Amino acid sequence: MKKIVLAASLSLLATGLQADDIKPEKAIEYRQSVYNVMGWHFKTMGAMVKGEMPFNKEVFAKKAEIVAFMSPLPGEGFIKGTSSKEVPESKAKAILWEKMDDVKAKSQDSQKETKALAEIAKAGDEKAIKEQFGKTAKTCKACHDDYREE
Ligand code: HEC
Repeated sequence: MKKIVLAASLSLLATGLQADDIKPEKAIEYRQSVYNVMGWHFKTMGAMVKGEMPFNKEVFAKKAEIVAFMSPLPGEGFIKGTSSKEVPESKAKAILWEKMDDVKAKSQDSQKETKALAEIAKAGDEKAIKEQFGKTAKTCKACHDDYREE
């Protein structure tokens, strides 16, 4: 079942579902919106992990689930003609479109770790949750380091 979901999300990225009438600005707005929702929940989880706010397992598990669900969604927003070179609102480096295989691998890796985080969070072992959060955050950073403008 998991494999099917992953394959489906990957094919969204691969085909790009590029309807001709999608405006570049709309695609950028779409993917940034998804990332912003993910970032919102990720930040709260991070604050709990760092002890900047009380650790609440239920809240953490809910947020981990949201991030796991959202993680495959930005893919289809990366249509051609939407790099930071082409559209000022974009923070996606042009090289992203030249390195699609690597981008897909990094996306897949991140989806895998966000899913693992959601599962571990549900199980409730605080130490394991914190470890997996760090592992997951690394997969976000790995892609940002290469493909997102500062
Ligand atoms: C496969 C690559 C990739 C992965 C994995 C990834 N991101 Fe991103 N992220 C990007 C790119 C590219 C942008 C810039 C998008 C744009 O400006 O169009 C971005 C932008 C963002 C933004 C800023 C949105 C904005 O409006 O500027 C946030 C927040 C964010 N990502 C959070 C995350 C979190 C949290 C994770 C991990 C759970 C994650 N990202 C994983 C590539 C990735």
